[in-house]
Amino acid sequence: LIHLLSTEGLSRDMLTHILDTAAQFVGVSEREVKKVPLLRGKSVFNLFFENSTRTRTTFDIAATRLSADVYTLDIARSSTAKGESLLDTVANLSAMAADIFVVRHSKSGAPYLLAQHVAPHVHVINAGDGRHAHPTQGLLDMYTIRHYKKDFSGLVVAIVGDVLHSRVARSDIHALTTLGAAEVRVVGPRTLVPGDLAPMGVRVCHTLEEGIKDADVVIMLRLQNERMSGALLPSSQEFFQSFGLTSERLRWAKPDAIVMHPGPINRGVEIDSQVVDGAQSVILPQVTFGIAVRMAVMSIVAGNEA
Ligand code: CP
Repeated sequence: LIHLLSTEGLSRDMLTHILDTAAQFVGVSEREVKKVPLLRGKSVFNLFFENSTRTRTTFDIAATRLSADVYTLDIARSSTAKGESLLDTVANLSAMAADIFVVRHSKSGAPYLLAQHVAPHVHVINAGDGRHAHPTQGLLDMYTIRHYKKDFSGLVVAIVGDVLHSRVARSDIHALTTLGAAEVRVVGPRTLVPGDLAPMGVRVCHTLEEGIKDADVVIMLRLQNERMSGALLPSSQEFFQSFGLTSERLRWAKPDAIVMHPGPINRGVEIDSQVVDGAQSVILPQVTFGIAVRMAVMSIVAGNEA
């Protein structure tokens, strides 16, 4: 693996290798992540052209735990604001001896463009591009599911909400189908869950009850207003009325179902506070697991594995 641009096309062996590598970085307590010298002397550049709290910070922590030197470009104060192109920005940062670029961009495909232009020893990791892919979120979601459910075979996983605009949904679907989940359902109104997703190997459901009935894992998604256009989309209130996850509705899923969300959450829009803070929620453990998973990805692309 030279770059990580998508979960699409990653083999089951590679996905499992990434999850197993991540597990090696977790200490006795799942909240403890080890510090190791695997990327000592390497430079990791975080380039976030779109806002982020979780991904940017956990990449920063992960690179630090790998003993890399970490540089996080302040895009708002960078020369991007003066019109410098993405490729010129990266060429200049490469001249500062970058080894890994972690890139988030509002344009789908931006990390692919960079991967075509960087020197052969430089690695690009996609930290979310437009509505296309968010592979490290997909991988940390797989780590979380495996942690709580042990095995993917037999699992029914429901992905609920704004699937149309979600790069997380796409990354999760590719990983889940490759890892052998029994059934992956995408759930939401027709305006946000197009019927033509079936070829991705998913079942399309347009009611919440059908979508999460007897599910083992419920992944809730945010309404991604920043990527929406058009008048047919539901308001926050309309969405919550039909698809918002409340404690009562969660009873449609299996009693031991886990509830996930990539964040940021909108309480009272796609998910009720009682569920966010309830016993079945693993939303904050997802964030913690993101550190070890991002360590695994960076050490594997750099060829310096544990
Ligand atoms: N899940 C996720 O990508 O969150 P951030 O946008 O805060 O990084």
